[in-house]
Amino acid sequence: KLKECGMTKTVLVTGGAGYIGSHTTVELLQAGCSVVILDNLCNSNPAVLERIYSITGKKPVFIQGDLRDAACLDQVFQQHPIDSVIHFAGLKAVGESVQQPLRYYENNVCGTLTLCQAMERAGVRRLIFSSSATVYGEEAPVPYVETLPRGTTTNPYGTSKAMVEQLLTDLQIADPRWSVVLLRYFNPIGAHESGLIGEDPQGIPNNLMPYMTQVAIGRLQELSIFGDDYPTTDGTCERDYLHVVDLAQGHLQSMQKLGAPGVHIYNLGTGQPVSVLSMLKTFEQVIQQSLPYRMAARRAGDLPAFWADASKANIELGWTAKRPLKQMLEDTWRWQTLNPQGFN
Ligand code: NAD
Ligand code: WQD
Repeated sequence: KLKECGMTKTVLVTGGAGYIGSHTTVELLQAGCSVVILDNLCNSNPAVLERIYSITGKKPVFIQGDLRDAACLDQVFQQHPIDSVIHFAGLKAVGESVQQPLRYYENNVCGTLTLCQAMERAGVRRLIFSSSATVYGEEAPVPYVETLPRGTTTNPYGTSKAMVEQLLTDLQIADPRWSVVLLRYFNPIGAHESGLIGEDPQGIPNNLMPYMTQVAIGRLQELSIFGDDYPTTDGTCERDYLHVVDLAQGHLQSMQKLGAPGVHIYNLGTGQPVSVLSMLKTFEQVIQQSLPYRMAARRAGDLPAFWADASKANIELGWTAKRPLKQMLEDTWRWQTLNPQGFN
């Protein structure tokens, strides 16, 4: 499948130094693409570039720059024969977005706008955008399927993703030469099997997986499970966790749609809901250690359970999330134990 994409292209990867962008860069380089990364390093570490080289034996071009800097973008498109753009750059902390909505809209929405304007000037009209399951909103029935309308999101982060989806859709309607892929990720976890790259959150993590691993290595004292009285199998919330390498490969497989004008929307998830308690229990088995935890109050804004109907990506792209939960947890643990302080 990947060979069919004719991987001799130069791809601009915004946010390529980050968690999902770095894993996707590895897959692109291994598939024969040239990669130009644009990242302002606001949530990543340049050490990732050496690690990408260690894994692939190839170096992406790295430009430290900001998505909102139009002159910088123009220079990137003038200096490199960019064929298409995979757009990861953005801010992603849900709680922070409630505190700092302007910063989130500015970065995520204005940043994308500036990128699209530069792409128009350069005549590059092929874009893959990192969207999120969060755009289905609060009321959507599960499993989420792409034919559902976007719903009401509960925080500025989620709203910024929905706004960008709308912006890109309007752009494509106005100019049918654009070919846009909206990838709606569920809950990516895991790390590259080499243990050389992985998720490296700054400060105290908000998300379950990095929180659990930091408890396991003793950086944090105990895990709080946010709510055990949800209407789910064991009372804790259920999510669709997928391996970040499967997710990265989903980007490559979706590149085949960049030839076809239109807006192509795909859920990228396993289709399997997993509860917080079963995440904890499976992780304890993998690391052969029990973790201190306590039941805590529900976290504001959490939905009881959501997971993907991932059949469209399977049928149209030939993509499925192959790596099982145990492997996601083993790979996370390898990354964490080899790099207890992340990239530092
Ligand atoms: P990340 O923070 O690790 O990576 C984002 C990268 O973008 C970082 O390296 C950051 O420095 C860079 N960046 C941010 N603003 C920038 C700007 N204005 N100019 C240039 N670079 C900028 O996050 P991630 O987990 O790899 O997520 C990548 C994308 O996927 C984001 O758009 C995120 O919203 C989306 N997403 C992530 C998840 C998830 O759970 N991780 C789920 C759904 C969607
Ligand atoms: C998973 C489950 C928590 C931490 C978020 C964004 C979403 C997407 C992915 C970008 C929930 C529970 C968590 C903890 C816990 N990102 N939990 N104790 O909230 O599903 O999704 O990241 O688009 O938009 O909202 O992921 O990992 O934060 O939480 O009990 O210390 O784990 O309540 O049920 P979430 P998460």
